[in-house]
Amino acid sequence: MASTWLQVAAFMVVLVAWTCPTLVECRIRNYKFNVVMTNTTRLCKSKPIVTVNGRFPGPTIIAREDDTVTVKVVNHVKYNVSIHWHGVRQLRTGWADGPAYITQCPIQPGGTYVYKFTLTGQRGTLWWHAHVLWLRATVHGAIVILPKVGVPYPFPKPNKEVVVVLGEWWKSDTEAVINQAQKLGQAPNVSDAHTINGNPGPVGNCLANGGYKLQVDQEKTYMLRIINAALNEELFFKIANHKLTVVEVDAVYVKPFTTDTILIAPGQTTNAIITTTQKAGKYLVAVSPFMDAPIAVNNLTATASVHYSGALTSTATKLVTPPPQNATLVANSFVNALKSLNSVMYPAKVPLTIDHSLFFTIGLGVNPCKTCVNGSRVVADINNVTFVMPTTALLQAHYFNISGVFTDDFPSKPLMPYNYTGTQPKNFATNKGTKVYRLPYNATVQLVLQDTGMIAAESHPVHLHGFNFFVVGRGLGNFNPNKDPKGYNLVERNTVGVPTGGWTAIRFRADNPGVWFMHCHLEVHTTWGLKMAFVVDNGQGPLESVIPPPSDLPKC
Ligand code: C2O
Repeated sequence: MASTWLQVAAFMVVLVAWTCPTLVECRIRNYKFNVVMTNTTRLCKSKPIVTVNGRFPGPTIIAREDDTVTVKVVNHVKYNVSIHWHGVRQLRTGWADGPAYITQCPIQPGGTYVYKFTLTGQRGTLWWHAHVLWLRATVHGAIVILPKVGVPYPFPKPNKEVVVVLGEWWKSDTEAVINQAQKLGQAPNVSDAHTINGNPGPVGNCLANGGYKLQVDQEKTYMLRIINAALNEELFFKIANHKLTVVEVDAVYVKPFTTDTILIAPGQTTNAIITTTQKAGKYLVAVSPFMDAPIAVNNLTATASVHYSGALTSTATKLVTPPPQNATLVANSFVNALKSLNSVMYPAKVPLTIDHSLFFTIGLGVNPCKTCVNGSRVVADINNVTFVMPTTALLQAHYFNISGVFTDDFPSKPLMPYNYTGTQPKNFATNKGTKVYRLPYNATVQLVLQDTGMIAAESHPVHLHGFNFFVVGRGLGNFNPNKDPKGYNLVERNTVGVPTGGWTAIRFRADNPGVWFMHCHLEVHTTWGLKMAFVVDNGQGPLESVIPPPSDLPKC
């Protein structure tokens, strides 16, 4: 009898597991991602693009806090593929994190891999994207994490929720764009359009079908789950005649505040609520780049519209003026308004004592290159180390003690200090290496990220895998350890924009064993080497140790 019951129970588990995505309440959500080539005529593109399930942006993953998500990824394209679940903490499940050659070897053409992870202690919007080559340009989508059943939002429940994915679009094949740039040793071409849910709105003489439309009713609230999936550009987001109330960033609730412009860097997510109190009409949504350094960006504005039901087709769309490209003040006032909610229910557990105090410079450099155009190559670095991608995944090397893949001598501070934001040094050359910084389990870390003016100062959205961190301070010029900590503030996130010619201080607790990538989320800077990894050693016993690798983990 007992064994019959066991069989029935086992059968039910399987049944639930495989039918779950269609059910409202379940603990395991299964998805299947077919990575395929998809034809598109969007924006004059004649060549097919790489997508998941033929969709651009890709499918949204919907789950609740504490659910386990499995995603079976099948690679039908000619490229190596891996998928990263950006912002998901991956407690002890680094094998499912996704950055190619950091936590896994990529899934080769024809290969399959099942990512399995649990959404612990997070709720809000995150996203997923390819984490190899430049494939994330078209391989990305939203992750919506709803609160646990019966747990309300800490703000009035909106009438409706909408995912808004911002992207960048190239007419040419993005792999060709970056390969060409790498051959020359120079910056890649900027994109040809920005997109809002896959649509740029009317641009040049390409397909102009009016852009994405958000259909609304009057006197309702809509929560926009905004994701910046662009490769290389920070973006402003603005809607004509509507204010935005920001309630969450990077799947962490914030103290609600109202703004007419949102700044969002590649990698970041922002939930903002609009109330439709305007006259029945059409209102323009504008997405435009933010760049306050002399660096080329695509200066086109993508447009969408908010359409009230009952608006006459003949009504003219109410326009909105995006901030100028170099609107540092607009950017700063948005960033300064962000504060963690820090309530009894959602406390900000910022480390108050520091075990490892790190100071990392982030910026560009120039190295010799015989085959490049000027005999030199633009590179990027952290503490003057241009990271070299290994050919064995770092997590494997760490877990199985394979020597010769990385060294754990990543410098905790620059080896040759200079005036980072002052007069340019004579020598722009960097060192190369696959270096990591090792942390014992549960160590507390303060990391000051200092932008440098080498070649040009520029804002860098830095993303840390495996953790949320607390942004405790930011400023312009060089960080001053005696004076700056007094002005420390607090917001929790997974990606932070280090201001142009300035610094940002973050703190985190290394309570997640594994190998965790940290890099600039401007894809061009990742390609150039603005990246490194932390190795967090196991603590005591299995609950503080990396789980064993799954049997289908791809091989290099
Ligand atoms: Cu969203 Cu390592 O990236």
